[in-house]
Amino acid sequence: MNHGSLPPGPPLPAFLQTIMWAVAPTKFGKACMDRYGSLFTARILGFGSIVYICTPDGIRRILRDDADNFDAAAANKSIRFLVGDHSLLMSEGAAHTRRRRVLMRPLHGDNVAGYVELMESIVEQEIRRWAGKSRIRLLERFQRVTLEVMMRAVFGITDSSRLDRLRVLVPRLLDINPLIILLPASRRRFGGLGPWAAFQRLLAEVDEIIFAEIAERRAAGGHQGADVVSILLARSDEDAVSDQELRDHLVTLLAVGQETTATQLAWFFERVLRTPDVLDRVVTAVGTGDWKFVDAAIHESVRVRPTTMDLGRVTKQVWQAHGYAFPPGTMFAVSLGLLHLSPDLHERPGDYSVDRFYPAEPPSTHFLPFGGGSHRCLGASLAMVEMRTIIGTILRHVRLGPARWRAERISPKGPMLVPARGTEVVVVENRLTEREPAWTAR
Ligand code: HEM
Repeated sequence: MNHGSLPPGPPLPAFLQTIMWAVAPTKFGKACMDRYGSLFTARILGFGSIVYICTPDGIRRILRDDADNFDAAAANKSIRFLVGDHSLLMSEGAAHTRRRRVLMRPLHGDNVAGYVELMESIVEQEIRRWAGKSRIRLLERFQRVTLEVMMRAVFGITDSSRLDRLRVLVPRLLDINPLIILLPASRRRFGGLGPWAAFQRLLAEVDEIIFAEIAERRAAGGHQGADVVSILLARSDEDAVSDQELRDHLVTLLAVGQETTATQLAWFFERVLRTPDVLDRVVTAVGTGDWKFVDAAIHESVRVRPTTMDLGRVTKQVWQAHGYAFPPGTMFAVSLGLLHLSPDLHERPGDYSVDRFYPAEPPSTHFLPFGGGSHRCLGASLAMVEMRTIIGTILRHVRLGPARWRAERISPKGPMLVPARGTEVVVVENRLTEREPAWTAR
C-alpha cells in the first residue's frame, strides 16, 4: 500500500500541464491514460494535484459504494457565487437528500412528458428562421432553443418583458470570465470596473427578474402548472421552499441544464451528419417512432463527444484503492470521459458507431452519461426528452449537410467542450418554410 504518495503522472512542470489541460483537455487526458493507465496524477495551477480515475470499479466506488467519503460540494465550490448556498451542487448529506426530493417531482419523466408540445413549437419557431441553402451554426441555435425551453416549459414564465430580458441576460451571465472561477482573488470590485463587478451587475439583474417572478407566482397562489416554480411553490409541510432556495434551484438548473443540452445536441449533429448511413437510419427511426434507436444515436454521440470529461470529488477520510491510501483532501477527477474512451472497454473507441448501443445497451459500469449515485443528473429525463424532441422535429422538417466533411475540433469554452465551429451546417432543404413561406426573419 502506498501511503501518502499519489499515482504517477506527467513529469512536466505544472504550468505546462495546465496549458495542455486548458487548451486540449481530451487529448491531454487520453495521452496520460495511454501512458499511465486508468489512474494518474496531473498538476494543475489553481487546483494542485488532481488524481484522475477512470476504472469502472474505482468510479463505482467513488460515486456509489464509498460515496459518503467523498465531498462533491467541495469540488463545486468555485461556482458557489453563481448558484448560491441552497443549490444541489453545494449540498451534501441530509440537506442534499431533502433538496433532491423536492426537485425530483417536476423533473421526473412523467412530468417532463407534458413539456413536449411546447418544446416542439419552440423548435418549429426556430426552424422557420433557417433559410434554405443558408449556412448556420447549430450550437448558437440550440442555445436559444434550450434557454427558451428552460424559461417557458421548465420555469413556466409567461411574462413577455421578463422573457425578453432573460433572453439577453442569461447567455451573458453564463459566459463567466474563467478568471473569476479559477482565481478567487480576482473577485474584487476594482472601483466597479473589473470582470467581477460586471458579473455582479448581471447577476443582480437576473436575480431581480427571478425574485419578481417568484413573488408574483406566490401571490397568485402558484398557478397549478406542471413547471418547477408551480410545483415547488405548491409544497407545504417540511418540503416548503423559501424564495432564496427556489432562486438557487432555478439558477442551478440554468447553469447545469441549458448549455449542456445545447452543446450535446450540437455534437450529435456534428457526428451524425458525417456518418450518412447512421443519419439515414435516424431519419427512418424518427419516422417510425423507433426512439430506442434515436436514443442509441444520442448516447453514442455523448460517449465520443462529451460536453464535460470529469466530475470533481474530494476525499473526506483516507481512501484505500488500487494500492494507494489517499489522504483526506485529495482532489479526484472522476473521468467519465476517459472511461467512455477507454480502449479496454470499448472497441475502436474513437469511432461513432451506433450499433454498440443498439439493440443491446452496454453495461452501466462502462457507460454513465449522467453520472451515478446520489448526485446522478437530476435532469437526465428532461435532457433525453428534450434532445429526442428537438432532433425529431428538425429531421422531420429539414435536410441538413455538414458545411465541411472534416470533423470539428473539440474546443474548451468555460467548463464545456464545444465543437470549434459551433456545428456549422448547410440547410439543404427546409420543408417547414417551404410549406409556410410567411416566416419572419429576425
Ligand atoms: C445532455 C445533457 C446533460 C448531461 C450530459 C448531464 C450530465 C450530468 C452529470 C454527469 C451530472 C453528475 C454530476 C456529479 O455527479 O458531480 C449531472 C448533475 C446534475 N444535472 Fe445534469 N446533465 C445534462 C442535462 C441536465 C438538465 C437538462 C438538467 C435540468 C434542467 C440537469 C440538472 C442536473 C442537476 C440539478 C445535477 C446535480 C445533481 C446533484 O448534485 O444531486 N442536467 N448532470
